[in-house]
Amino acid sequence: MIENLDNRERTHSCGALRKEHVGHRATLMGWCARRRDFGPLTFIDLRDRDGITQIVVNQEKAPDAHAKAKDVRGEYVLAVTGEVVLRDENSRNFKLETGDVEVQAGEIVILNDSRTLPFQLDTATPEALAAEDLRLKYRYLDLRRPQLQVNLRLRHRMILEINRYMDEQGFTQIETPNLIKSTPEGARDYIVPSRVQPGKFFALPQSPQIFKQICMIAGLDKYYQIARCFRDEDLRADRQPEFSQLDVEMSFATPEQIYRLIEGLFGRIFRLIGAELQTPFPRFTFAEVMRRFGSDKPDLRIEGMELQDLSSALTETTFAPYASVLAARGEVKGLVISGGAARSRKTLDELQDFAKRYGAGALAWIKLGDELSSSLLKALGNDKVIDLAGVAGAQKGDAVVIVAGKSDVVAASLGALRNEIARREKLIPENVFAPLWVTEFPMFEFHEDDRRYYSMHHPFTSPLDEDVALLERAVNGETELFGQLRAKAYDTVINGVEVAGGSIRIHRRDVQSLVFKALGMNEETARARFGFFLDALAYGTPPHGGIASGIERTLMVLVPTENIRDVMAFPKTASAQDLMIDAPGEVDPKQLAELHLRIIK
Ligand code: AMO
Repeated sequence: MIENLDNRERTHSCGALRKEHVGHRATLMGWCARRRDFGPLTFIDLRDRDGITQIVVNQEKAPDAHAKAKDVRGEYVLAVTGEVVLRDENSRNFKLETGDVEVQAGEIVILNDSRTLPFQLDTATPEALAAEDLRLKYRYLDLRRPQLQVNLRLRHRMILEINRYMDEQGFTQIETPNLIKSTPEGARDYIVPSRVQPGKFFALPQSPQIFKQICMIAGLDKYYQIARCFRDEDLRADRQPEFSQLDVEMSFATPEQIYRLIEGLFGRIFRLIGAELQTPFPRFTFAEVMRRFGSDKPDLRIEGMELQDLSSALTETTFAPYASVLAARGEVKGLVISGGAARSRKTLDELQDFAKRYGAGALAWIKLGDELSSSLLKALGNDKVIDLAGVAGAQKGDAVVIVAGKSDVVAASLGALRNEIARREKLIPENVFAPLWVTEFPMFEFHEDDRRYYSMHHPFTSPLDEDVALLERAVNGETELFGQLRAKAYDTVINGVEVAGGSIRIHRRDVQSLVFKALGMNEETARARFGFFLDALAYGTPPHGGIASGIERTLMVLVPTENIRDVMAFPKTASAQDLMIDAPGEVDPKQLAELHLRIIK
């Protein structure tokens, strides 16, 4: 029988009671996580967002409550009143913060019942959890799991700390609109049809980029916002179509000021979990991290394991695969696996399959065991193989894995192998945070599919001052210079995760026009898309710059978790669906007609 709450009030949460409460009367409210019957004694684990408290119901002392407890099933909602008592020495539960005590129930009120859950909430290991799709469909149940509750409260505390810090630093929180025109950040837009303007569409912001720059033109000086961003892009474990950013922009900003601001901010955020970040963060140019780690977001918790260039040791080679790669200005690079000579052929084959996912044609290997063995012995001979292992810096007992190809493929595959090998060999220390700045990103990257240049960051990023003249020459026909242009762009990386990215912006109208041209926009298209912005730049735009930090990405490092869905309340699946509300969904024909839309199947 379901009863009313009446005027009962909670005195404590289910995580609050300790030894010092013994003898107190307490009223707890929460969900039945577990019930166990031992004849005259029934035990209930009562759970709320704060924790679990054991309730004991004694038939002799509280016959009504004991009878009622028999009806209680998993996830029933209860109010329990009783005395806090000390548990016996041997029934203490060290896993629970409340494990020294229990509540001797005098009264149990069943506030609601529950169907049998579609999946188990408290599994022994995370691996035993039900399939994620099922849990996403019943997100309100999955969210009852203590780990997710802890994550969401950490998220709250982090955002609170961000707001405090940004206020202390003199920033003003300004909300920018969500119904806007497309801002190019490299992904597709989510678009929203207009009812009152037939045939016209808003776009949801991929970020507030243009608006925050307009705020600088408007003299608002120091802007920030916890902004929702929407990007229709291929999803990965660390991406969501809808996510949050701490978005920042500052007038008269130098990169140094932005670095200090963000280092201070991350210092405060990581202190929430008791971690101290060393500042200033080490800085690396893009060219350096790509050369040394094969990644623009290297995990510096992994000691050493840098990519070694073997090309110079192979200039004379007649081995066709390597000779042709080097003739085509490609690279041959290797990575040492410390103690790797003991690894089996099977392990090396698995690493080969892994490298192939990143475009590597093959993965050659050398093992410096008691006997030399290598997939290259036949092709290169003993001496050359030993020479290569030496150039790679391998010692006896080590293995070397080698990839040849275009430099981006070599970097991508060896960069990914570096992380994979470190993970398999357990070389990544826990509870360590290794932040860094990556600077001087290229301005543009070439896309093979449509054979044109795209902004690596976004089109509002300033080239290095010394590269502006080169930009002009590139736009005027020396297209080979595009690949050499460097941007005043920077990313913050922690533990191999890109947690923030930003740049000093273009504040001169002529330079902005050049970049639009570089991106293949003629004057007419640039005006049609960004005329308002080019106009605004012409009215006394201060030099300015900023950054945006992914709220979820940062939380992923703090928690830590590899799954972005663990740090947001209502995430979408890898196919950009919300399984709980079944979105996206169809709309009825009347609504479509009002929006002047017709679906073509
Ligand atoms: P950028 O595109 O680098 O820059 O994004 C900034 C940060 O946002 C996070 N992030 C994401 N998090 C979850 N899901 C996604 N799909 C996703 N995409 C990005 C990352 C990233 O570092 N307007 C610029 C910022 C600027 O120039 O000031 C921008 O949005 O942590």
